[in-house]
Amino acid sequence: MIFGATGDLAKRKLFPSLYRLYQEGRLSERFAVIGVARRPLSNEEFQKNVEDSVLTAVGEAGDISEFITHFYYHSHDVTDSSSYLSLKEMAQKLDTQYSLAGNRIFYLAMAPEFFGTIAEHLKVDGLTDVDGFKRLVIEKPFGHDLESAKQLNKQIRKAFSEDEIYRIDHYLGKEMVQNIEVIRFANAIFEPLWNNRYISNIQVTSSEVLGVEERGRYYETSGALRDMVQNHMLQMVALLAMEPPIRLTTEEVRSEKVKVLRAMRSLDGDMVEEFFVRGQYDKGVMDNEEVPAYREEPMVDPASNTESFVAGKLLIDNFRWAGVPFYIRTGKRMKTKSTKIVIQFKDIPMNLYYKSEQTLNPNLLVIHIQPEEGITLYLNAKKTGQHMNATPIKLNFSNKGVHGINTPEAYEKLLFDCMRGDATNFTHWDEVALSWSFVDKISEVWENTKAKNFPNYESGTMGPKEADQLLKKDGFFWWPVT
Ligand code: BG6
Repeated sequence: MIFGATGDLAKRKLFPSLYRLYQEGRLSERFAVIGVARRPLSNEEFQKNVEDSVLTAVGEAGDISEFITHFYYHSHDVTDSSSYLSLKEMAQKLDTQYSLAGNRIFYLAMAPEFFGTIAEHLKVDGLTDVDGFKRLVIEKPFGHDLESAKQLNKQIRKAFSEDEIYRIDHYLGKEMVQNIEVIRFANAIFEPLWNNRYISNIQVTSSEVLGVEERGRYYETSGALRDMVQNHMLQMVALLAMEPPIRLTTEEVRSEKVKVLRAMRSLDGDMVEEFFVRGQYDKGVMDNEEVPAYREEPMVDPASNTESFVAGKLLIDNFRWAGVPFYIRTGKRMKTKSTKIVIQFKDIPMNLYYKSEQTLNPNLLVIHIQPEEGITLYLNAKKTGQHMNATPIKLNFSNKGVHGINTPEAYEKLLFDCMRGDATNFTHWDEVALSWSFVDKISEVWENTKAKNFPNYESGTMGPKEADQLLKKDGFFWWPVT
């Protein structure tokens, strides 16, 4: 059951991902999807929506008419028990018709204020009373801060146990985010160096070209810190910093990530200004077109204090990472759409190839998350010619180039994982809670002190100059990601 079946996420991601799974034979014929949303629609109208969304996403789809017969629609009032009872009836009928053995996935792809209410109704009105498995997939935001997240968790835990809850962080479904641990733990040349003796700093950038678009109302209550840092950015940091799990089970992987989040130095008061930078985009020209400032976007307060950019320095106080800064930055209306991780290794003790006009470049390992997927290793080698000069060289691996096919969409992988009952790439409650308690300290300061210089970066740039200062203070700079 997809709650929010007429919404944007269902249309852009969920239907096309289900279709791809179907096409690949990962969904048997024994499945049914009930689209649940408020507006009245017939099954046929809903099926037509699904078809349109799939065709828009994948172009040609030969078996689409067969695929859409699996879709049904229920017009629903999320606060009304009688609505749940008729939904239950519909589900029971489909259960028999498709021999589903009572297995149910409830996907909440809608406004977060209803997450708790829906979960409670699902239990009280008997929809979770099944012989098979029952799983709840829940989209972000999981709360607005630690307190509200706790409350929400309490509500959904009345109906689902922790191992039945699949909290989506779609970054965890990205191919190259999943590759972080393989690159680290399957290579003898990296893991021995993966610590404060050999790594000088790590930089994680996730920049976006788009502005807030029509999401102003939500974004005003969120900002980049809650929207991107609390979840996606901290999850990438946890994967980069965690210890090798003793095995690849859900429990072991999550428990290593939790330890990283626990070791993250919490920032109080003045430390926030020292370790974090916020930004808000001004108007600018992108792709030869003028784009408005954040404060001119629809549903945005013309004097808004909301940040559309965050850069920060994280310190992980454990044996492996003591003294190594993890710099993160993310923002909207930046120069380029790109998610990249740069691991900068320490300089060698002495440079034999030093010429006055030339310094040796540090070794870098770059993990390209998107849009390209791959890794680049920057080394130094002899410059061809008579002299013993060093020059930087690049070893490149491109995921797309090798396999020649599109890597699966994050949502496709996550939906499939959920059907198989594998929660490794979903966030455990402990991760959510620790991330919120870190982020809350920063939002507290930012909410209580109005940013004096907003807007402070022009659309189409890499953010405010303070973000560069943040690294400069430590003797570093952001490696270019474009
Ligand atoms: C979402 C945020 O979680 O991630 C959006 O709410 C953001 O504001 C998006 O645009 C970025 O995801 P991706 O996969 O495009 O990097």
